[in-house]
Amino acid sequence: MAAGQWLPITLLSLLLFSVAAQYQPTWESLDSRPLPAWYDEAKVGIFITWGVFSVPSFMNEWFWYQWKGNKNPAYVEFMLENYKPDFTYADFAAQFTAEFYDPNQWVEIFNASGAGYIVFVTKHHSGFTNWPSKYSFNWNSMDTGPNRDLVGELAKALRSKTKIHLGLYHSLFEWFHPLYLQDKANNYTTQDFVNTKTMPELYELVNNYQPDIVWSDGDWEASDTYWKSREFLAWLYNSSPVKDIVVTNDRWGKEDRCKHGGFLTCSDRYNPGKLQPRKWENAMTLDRSSWGFRRNAQLSSYLTIEELLETLASTVSCGGNLLVNVGPTSDGRIDPIYEERFRQLGTWLQVNGEAIYKTKPWSHQNDTVTPGVWYTSRKDDEGNLLVYAILQNLKTRPIVLGAPNPTDSSTTVSMLGYSGNFHWEMQGDSMAISVPPITVDKLPCQWAWVLKLTGIVN
Ligand SMILES: *[C@@H]1O[C@H](CO)[C@@H](O)[C@H](O)[C@H]1NC(C)=O
Ligand SMILES: *[C@@H]1O[C@H](CO)[C@@H](O)[C@H](O)[C@H]1NC(C)=O
Ligand SMILES: *[C@@H]1O[C@H](CO)[C@@H](O)[C@H](O)[C@H]1NC(C)=O
Repeated sequence: MAAGQWLPITLLSLLLFSVAAQYQPTWESLDSRPLPAWYDEAKVGIFITWGVFSVPSFMNEWFWYQWKGNKNPAYVEFMLENYKPDFTYADFAAQFTAEFYDPNQWVEIFNASGAGYIVFVTKHHSGFTNWPSKYSFNWNSMDTGPNRDLVGELAKALRSKTKIHLGLYHSLFEWFHPLYLQDKANNYTTQDFVNTKTMPELYELVNNYQPDIVWSDGDWEASDTYWKSREFLAWLYNSSPVKDIVVTNDRWGKEDRCKHGGFLTCSDRYNPGKLQPRKWENAMTLDRSSWGFRRNAQLSSYLTIEELLETLASTVSCGGNLLVNVGPTSDGRIDPIYEERFRQLGTWLQVNGEAIYKTKPWSHQNDTVTPGVWYTSRKDDEGNLLVYAILQNLKTRPIVLGAPNPTDSSTTVSMLGYSGNFHWEMQGDSMAISVPPITVDKLPCQWAWVLKLTGIVN
């Protein structure tokens, strides 16, 4: 080949290379990646917190750390009273039996909830992996406990039966890993733990299971330079098998939360109550005080469906997604209280999904007069604005809304799932909406009703 022919080929390959390596491992570059649209459109996800902590199933999933790290008296006493003196945390793994774990049944429940994605805990801070990781010898769900690939089985059931997106949760740090403790003692000037555990494991997870979300956690003790997370994200966005579809969160290093990454999770149960400039997620629990299943939880500890729906409305109104947590039992069941909430949520979304999925925040997030009314909006096929007012109750009549500014008498108000328009008139600066008496059998849903408004000018 003549020398002259080399040049264009070299230029071409250089060009291809620079296209492939679009994102650099800097936040400026990584944050410039547009968030794949499916995530914002889905609005609702289910978080699944499951692991060896589901065996003691006491207080919360930080059991090992509270017992051995903090020496919290409640946990120390629980162990003294119920276990032999030489019982170790690792001994709980054998009792992580998962004999009732039926991924198809789980997936049917998740699907019935109306969720568009799940986030499954693959490794919490104990380091136990719910998949047969090459980097977690004898401390994984294949070698110990269930003797199954919990992640793989769920991924398969989800993908064969539904269109729900698979997200994977992974903890960067581990409470008691000797290499981590050594790096920490060295003020993070060494990276043995990151090089031999955290990063190989993350690449393995992505290559094996091709998640649509990588939901990172355990970020708060060290910087993203120590964790090498910017390098990981550059690979994830440039050349991983999920580079075009994957979405990430913000927990990549102690300086990053609420600032950098894909969507922002900020703190657990984050729900700011006002519009946020960036896409965010409210990761919250149905059991008010724990992510992992608690055997001794009382009914009052669980959010009611009314509370869950108000949380959903306030979250989506302010531009967030709602990630609702379930803690399965160590034998692999989704407790009926969780199942009931998920099915209730699903029946509500069947009627009112139009006010949630693919919506955009409106100019007002909540009403200016009536408390507990949250708004969302969308454009109809002709480009006209539709405004949805999500009400927590129908007790006060008329319903007075101070935020919407109607055009004229052509402005309509109706209720999702109910036919016909409602009469309204101005009462000062507010719309006073007369909801007719609706018999119980005609009520479109039992909790949180949605008014749909057309011809709104603000
Ligand atoms: C998932 O939910 C949709 C909507 O309710 C339903 O049509 C479909 O049959 C469900 N699929 C499974 C596998 O449960
Ligand atoms: C880590 O930092 C602390 C506080 O700055 C210092 O006292 C300690 O000697 C450092 N340790 C190492 C191993 O560098
Ligand atoms: C609307 O929400 C804001 C912020 O959460 C709150 O301060 C205000 O009281 C709410 N308005 C009403 C009418 O409840």
